[in-house]
Amino acid sequence: MSDRDRVTIATLKARKKAGQKYSVITCYDHPTARMQQAAGIDCILVGDTLGEVILGYENNLRVKMDFIITLTEAVRRGAPSVFLMGDMPFLSYQVSIEDAIRNAGRFVSEAGCDTVKIEIDRRHLDVLAAMTRANIPVTAHLGMRPQAVTQNGGYRAVGRSAGAGAELVRLARDAEQYGAHALLLEAVPADVARTITQNTCLPVTGICAGPDTDGQVLVMHDVLGISVGHTPSHVKPFADLTGVMTEAFTRYHKDVIEGRFPDPKNNIPMGKGQLEKFRELIAAG
Ligand code: KIV
Repeated sequence: MSDRDRVTIATLKARKKAGQKYSVITCYDHPTARMQQAAGIDCILVGDTLGEVILGYENNLRVKMDFIITLTEAVRRGAPSVFLMGDMPFLSYQVSIEDAIRNAGRFVSEAGCDTVKIEIDRRHLDVLAAMTRANIPVTAHLGMRPQAVTQNGGYRAVGRSAGAGAELVRLARDAEQYGAHALLLEAVPADVARTITQNTCLPVTGICAGPDTDGQVLVMHDVLGISVGHTPSHVKPFADLTGVMTEAFTRYHKDVIEGRFPDPKNNIPMGKGQLEKFRELIAAG
């Protein structure tokens, strides 16, 4: 994709129809968004994973609307052509339908998102429908729902029994009927993800959901090898930037301590002929 081709929902649907995959990655800042667009990434998710990977919390439940909106705006400025997905944080859509529409609307009108993502089970179908009626394009996130981590007592794959897998397939179908714009499946068996993907015309993005979804998403820190702690098995690091960045910080630190930085070419010279005058003024007190 070149910078000029804006990726829209129509692009993703056409890709699906043609059997072509699309790429999705998380992003939380402007310079990285520029790089991701230049790399040809189709879709950026400003995910509430920022709670863990940017803010260092143990989960994503403390992410605030104002903060994620500010970061999403920055990402949009860096990547005007990508399909931009904003992630509605915990309690931004669960309290009331009015709240949900107002908060979702901010992602679209303030941050320029093409879709907003909410984590759903059957109880969220009404809010999904209400947001859709308000002309907000909603991506329904099914399967493992990180915002339910406390309720579920941890992060667990969903749909591994025949009954639970069939219920996920029904939920995906219902989400489509209630107006979902796209689907995202997290931590579900590949067979269940394939069945859902084959039975909908919506673009389906997967994470830890096997190879058959229309698109794949990963958290950028995992892709770059800068995640802290345990690397889950679905992750494929494409670089080891922890090593590269630590090396750069070490060299900077040493150069400062040992007087090699700054060197003369990093300094601001005085204006022409000003140094002598300056010395005279100082000498005169
Ligand atoms: O918040 C996020 O980054 C996500 C992805 C892991 C899908 O929801």
